[in-house]
Amino acid sequence: MIDHMFGKITLSIIKPDAVQKGYVSPILYKIVHAGFHIIAIKITELSKKSATKFYAEHKKKLFFESLVKFMSSGPIVSVILKKENAVKDFRILIGETNPVHAKKGTIRNLYATSLEKNAIHGSDSNQNAIKECLFYFSNREIFF
Ligand code: TYD
Ligand code: MG
Repeated sequence: MIDHMFGKITLSIIKPDAVQKGYVSPILYKIVHAGFHIIAIKITELSKKSATKFYAEHKKKLFFESLVKFMSSGPIVSVILKKENAVKDFRILIGETNPVHAKKGTIRNLYATSLEKNAIHGSDSNQNAIKECLFYFSNREIFF
């Protein structure tokens, strides 16, 4: 059902650090202002088990355990965003993974505090975008 949106959607997460600091509203404002349409949104919490599953590609990395702990440490806001070239354009909007290297004005430049607590997630490919959207949302929760 979501497959026809390939190339036009991405999954974002406003991470626990940014939610806790009250940045949900300014971050969403910036995203919408950049031309993305919110087609699904929820505030939720990841269990350690879910965070482990979501970040499975990183399970061999040294930072994995800490990342899972952080991502399950408080509420997150997960969002599906629609736009032409959503994945690429959104990665540009959020900036480099390490906020030290994120360009001025990007979301991570403005709101991240460290490499781990970097405020926001964005899918890294169209294939993963579909997969990640379905990780957080059922088809009934998505409004194309
Ligand atoms: P990654 O998928 O490489 O980055 P991105 O979120 O930009 O796609 O890594 C996932 C998350 O893991 C990243 O947002 C922050 C955290 N992380 C660390 O804590 N330490 C690290 O050295 C790296 C590379 C990532
Ligand atoms: Mg990634």
